[in-house]
Amino acid sequence: MKEFHIAIDGPAGSGKSTISKQIAHDLGFIHIDTGAMYRAITYMALLEGIDLNDEESYHFIERLTITYQDDKIFVDKIDVGEFIRDDLVTKNVSKVASFPYVRQYLVKVQREAAQGKKVIMDGRDIGTVVLPKADLKIFLTANIKERSKRRMLELQEKGFDVDLFSVVKDIEERDKKDSLRKVSPLIIPKDAIIVDTTHYSIFETVERIKKEIEERGAYYGRE
Ligand code: DC
Repeated sequence: MKEFHIAIDGPAGSGKSTISKQIAHDLGFIHIDTGAMYRAITYMALLEGIDLNDEESYHFIERLTITYQDDKIFVDKIDVGEFIRDDLVTKNVSKVASFPYVRQYLVKVQREAAQGKKVIMDGRDIGTVVLPKADLKIFLTANIKERSKRRMLELQEKGFDVDLFSVVKDIEERDKKDSLRKVSPLIIPKDAIIVDTTHYSIFETVERIKKEIEERGAYYGRE
C-alpha cells in the first residue's frame, strides 16, 4: 500500500502528537505535526516584527520553506523546534492560525507533504479540510484537567517553568479561540471516531487506534 492517510484532530493537550508519533514509529508512517507549522510561522512573524493583527503583512511566508521531518520542524532547513514552544509563540499562535491567508498557505504545504505517502497528520482541521478523504479520522479528546496536566509535564520536561493554573488558563483560552474562529474551526469531523483518552494511557490509546488502522487494511511493516 503506497498511500494511506490518517487524520488526528483534537484540542490542545489531548495527546495528538505523542500518540501520532508513536503510531508512525510502530507502523513506518510519516508523522506530520501541523500545529508545529502554525507555531513556526508565528515564531517567524515575531522575528520579522510584523503587525500580527494585519493579515496583509503575512505575505513574507511565501519566501519560506516549511517542512516537518523526523519529528523536527524546519524553516528554510533550520530546525526551529526549540523556539516554537515559547510562551510568546503559544500566546499568539491562535491569532496567527485564524487568518485565511496563513491557513491556505499551510493547507497546501500539508497536502503536498501527504500526497502518495503513508501519513499520520495531527492538528485541528485535518479530517475536515486538509485531508477530507482520509482513510481514517480520529478525534482525540480528554477532559481539561487531564489535558492541562499532560501539557504542564511536557513543558516542564522541556525545561519550562510553568504551573498548572497558568496551563489551564492557556488551554481554555486556546480551546475557545480554536473552536470559535470563522475559518476551519476545531470541530469533530462527521465520519471521525471519537477517542476519549482521559482514563487511558498512551499505550492503550495507541493500541486502540492501531486496531482501527488494521481493520482498514493498512499495510503494516516498513518498506
Ligand atoms: O497543536 P498545537 O497546540 O501545537 O497547535 C498550535 C496552534 O495552532 C493551536 O492553538 C491551533 C493552531 N492549529 C490550527 O489552527 N490548525 C492546525 N491544523 C493545527 C494547529
